[in-house]
Amino acid sequence: MSSITQYLNDYRNQPGFPAEYIDLLAGAFTMAEKAGEIHLKYFRKPNLKQATKLNDSDVVTVADKEAEAFILDYIHRHFPAHGIIAEESGCDHDYREWCWVVDPLDGTTNFSSGLPAFCVSIGLERNGETVVGVVYAPYLGECFYAVKGFGARLNGSTIHCSGKSELSKAVVATGVPYDRTVNPDNNLSEISRMALLLRAIRRMGSAAIDLCYTAAGYFDAYWELNLNRWDISAGTLIASEAGVIIEPIRSDRNQSILASNPSLLPAMHHHLLQ
Ligand code: IPD
Ligand code: CA
Ligand code: CA
Repeated sequence: MSSITQYLNDYRNQPGFPAEYIDLLAGAFTMAEKAGEIHLKYFRKPNLKQATKLNDSDVVTVADKEAEAFILDYIHRHFPAHGIIAEESGCDHDYREWCWVVDPLDGTTNFSSGLPAFCVSIGLERNGETVVGVVYAPYLGECFYAVKGFGARLNGSTIHCSGKSELSKAVVATGVPYDRTVNPDNNLSEISRMALLLRAIRRMGSAAIDLCYTAAGYFDAYWELNLNRWDISAGTLIASEAGVIIEPIRSDRNQSILASNPSLLPAMHHHLLQ
């Protein structure tokens, strides 16, 4: 990510951009860039140590841990008053006005198998609402980012969601939850139903990239059950700043969302949430 200075200057030159956000954004870019370097140090290399968490499908690697350790240390040094929610180490329970919501490596299964769809996802919430989001996929060289009220960008260019309205022409992403073998509410019946209606269904394996690709119009919609806050904090801001509508679809399954371009939303609602 050689263009951080340019990305920041674009915001500095934007009328009405709040100056206090420049340092926060600079911090988010710096953390994302360094986390990406850590990912690439291990990606497709024989030195990648990995273990499993909840079950054999839930993988963690030395890269997840090293990237998170770097990010936490950076936040403690530069933003000591801010709270943190991070996947590998949990959260501060004290209320803080500002809170960083961090997935140090989203798409770990891809990463550990040598597949390139993985990223670091960094959201910054202010009083519970995400105001800054950076999702950086280092192998793909894609940095998606947004500041609330100032649009969404990919590598310096503004992005917008697609305008397709017909399911038969839509390419839609989804996922299958880690607890699929023990919980029958596992999205498989929804996938079989939707797969017959859509042009194509995709399982990328990174919720943050799914949201960013919906933001950029590469996917027309995305839905998934049983995600965590760190999977979607940055991505939902980036998507909504690009015009995507984000809706919670369940209250009993952790973070479960439908993200759709506005034109496709009625059909997604009708067929997915029946
Ligand atoms: C996972 C990915 C995946 C989604 C899982 C997430 P991780 O995150 O985002 O696409 O289906 O629910 O947990 O474990 O790679 O950080
Ligand atoms: Ca994740
Ligand atoms: Ca992760």
